[in-house]
Amino acid sequence: MVARALPGRARGPELSVIVPTFNERDNVEPLLARLEAALCGIEWEVIYIDDDSPDGTAHEVRNLAQTNPRVRCIQRIGRRGLSSAVIEGMLASSAPYLAVIDADLQHDETVLPQLLGTIKEQNLDVVIGSRHAPGGSVGKWGRRRSTISALAACVARFVVSAELSDPMSGFFIISRPAFERTVRHLSGQGFKILVDLFASTPVAYRFSEIPYVFRQRLHGVSKLDSLVAWEYLTLLLDKLFGRLLPVRFASFAAIGLSGVGVHFVTLYCALQLVSFPVAQAAGTVVAMTSNFVLNNILTYRDRRLVGKRFITGLASFYGICSLGAVANVGIASAAFGHHYTWWLSGVAGAAVGAVWNYAVSSAFTWQRR
Ligand code: GDD
Ligand code: MN
Repeated sequence: MVARALPGRARGPELSVIVPTFNERDNVEPLLARLEAALCGIEWEVIYIDDDSPDGTAHEVRNLAQTNPRVRCIQRIGRRGLSSAVIEGMLASSAPYLAVIDADLQHDETVLPQLLGTIKEQNLDVVIGSRHAPGGSVGKWGRRRSTISALAACVARFVVSAELSDPMSGFFIISRPAFERTVRHLSGQGFKILVDLFASTPVAYRFSEIPYVFRQRLHGVSKLDSLVAWEYLTLLLDKLFGRLLPVRFASFAAIGLSGVGVHFVTLYCALQLVSFPVAQAAGTVVAMTSNFVLNNILTYRDRRLVGKRFITGLASFYGICSLGAVANVGIASAAFGHHYTWWLSGVAGAAVGAVWNYAVSSAFTWQRR
């Protein structure tokens, strides 16, 4: 079959600009206008990947798409995450070059043609907009943010062997073959898509860096909060040990361990007021609740339950953990009956209980929607 060019538009886009958004309604149009100006002479499209922002970002994007065929919108419902949004945007594109840029105009879009020119002319896999290459800058940043960013970049060296001046950058172009080689190995956790790509590629990327100056955000607020550090740690651990032990399970188990502490503190305090069985029951409920809340914030940050779902999730978690406790006691008693030492029997019971709680709660309490 011979492919025939459609009248009007002879070719598909050479460059897809992937823009992850969460509550960026007022930045959507200004960014589009700036892309139009910067990318003149290039066949391009822009894909906004919006995680169902309450401010109506997706609606705004679709409005613009009505009059501008370069614009597309992917709206993800019940999902959160910058990296996974970028990955899905790239998968929805057919262009040979994939750019990533923040929606808030902090990245200098006028550098995009230079990024594209460099990746094509030098036949590279990735070209990165860098704030730390000579000529680049982070603009007006406080001491605290600069220190945190430098620390994060330093830690990235544990998983990325390439000498990147700005591994935290969220502004770069990757070629489709390089992306496709890597996509199945990506962790997809958290914010740091570039670290993820460089840590996951089976063949080292050929790359180059282009300096740019990080600007102030136009509208809205940053989504980087204190839990981003936790997410980043999870990504690093997943890259280092993920093959041996799923990071989610490690997080779940660590929280479970903290629950033991919570239980004993509650038991101790409650014993001052009530009888032992009541105090023990109180300790159990408080520990289960604290485990649920912590897992909801940390382990399942990307599927966090809120509102009514928080309540039903908590109820299901109580149910699952109660069965886990029955299994725990059953296995431990059986082992003890077979003349295993008391502590080995105890550990066996606890391990079976933990695996049960983890497996069943991930399938029911925090199921993928
Ligand atoms: N779809 C989606 N889902 N988009 C998101 C999410 C999410 O959960 N969280 C943030 N975004 C979008 C924002 O709407 C914005 O367009 C972009 O991702 C960057 O988010 P910001 O909230 O503006 O992050 P920042 O400016 O603090 O951080 C930037 O600088 C960091 C380095 O200092 C980002 O570029 C980071 O990737 C970068 O590491
Ligand atoms: Mn920003």
